Amino acid sequence: MTVTSAILLVGGMGTRMQPLTLSTPKPMLELLGRPITEHQIMKAKEAGIQEIVLATSYLSEVFIPHFGDGSQFGIQISYAVEEVALGTGGAIRNAADSLRSDGDVIIFNGDILSAHSLQEQIAFHESNDADISLHLTRVPDARPFGVVDLDEENRISSFMEKMENPPTNVINAGCYIFNRTSIQKIPHGEVVSVERQTFPEMLKDGARVFGYIDTSYWIDIGNPSALLAATRELLQPSASGLGDDVAVDASAQLLGGTYVGAGSVIGPHSIIENSAIGRGARIGAGVRLTRCHVADGTRIPDGFIAEGQYFGFTELTGENPYN
Ligand code: GTP
Repeated sequence: MTVTSAILLVGGMGTRMQPLTLSTPKPMLELLGRPITEHQIMKAKEAGIQEIVLATSYLSEVFIPHFGDGSQFGIQISYAVEEVALGTGGAIRNAADSLRSDGDVIIFNGDILSAHSLQEQIAFHESNDADISLHLTRVPDARPFGVVDLDEENRISSFMEKMENPPTNVINAGCYIFNRTSIQKIPHGEVVSVERQTFPEMLKDGARVFGYIDTSYWIDIGNPSALLAATRELLQPSASGLGDDVAVDASAQLLGGTYVGAGSVIGPHSIIENSAIGRGARIGAGVRLTRCHVADGTRIPDGFIAEGQYFGFTELTGENPYN
């Protein structure tokens, strides 16, 4: 049996991403004109997932008008709305009630961009006859994350909270496969953290919890600078594109790997290269932007020249990936 159902956890407050998340839930922030959630849905669909439940809470009303019943994306989508946020574990338990199939379920944190193969993770889960399997990745500095210890058979032996000197750099990458028995063990209608409560309790109960280590591109889009870094990752020369109703002057040039969001205007003789321009931006005449990121609605004056900078975010935390 293979995995055909998914739950997307998209109900968090996204406090580290404020002010961008005051009116838009973090998973609805856009990467090249499409919400993070949409990138994940398309990835799930490519891996053979047929139905997805979006576990929403904070600003839940924003998701339905965009995704509807999923027919425009070729996948069945429904919604499990938490009146009071139930935490990641509580959200999984609640959303599972809305799934039509009764097979194992793949669960995504709604703020991750990852190039790992879901099909390989599913095959790994099945070949180990796992109760739960987690996608794990290695990071250069594991201090901001909880880390995971594995035995030679890739069975997880412990989960450790964030610490100053982590003994390993292998971390939980936020994509899990659960069998239904493991989901049913999560208390219903209670606030539960899957990372802090469910996983350690499952280990204590002797469950078969496995870690699928994959080190292809992975990023936790937790703060504004990570949103920029993820955008940069997607901006391949072949990924250039224009949103709807973009007005690019005939004398302007958009070069290798540039995305211009809906409703933006690019003035005469401007040259935009390997850059991401948000929605409704106004780029003046004779502007030259190389490897830049311009936030929605930002105005760049005539004659402005910049390389490797971001414009329009009121506040950035973390490292600026443009440096
Ligand atoms: P911060 O407030 O900045 O930590 O962000 P966050 O609220 O998104 O929390 P975190 O990054 O830990 O959440 C991981 C994923 O789980 C995100 O995709 C969240 O949207 C989602 N999530 C977190 N808490 C809940 C919840 O209570 N209910 C649901 N449905 N999803 C949640």
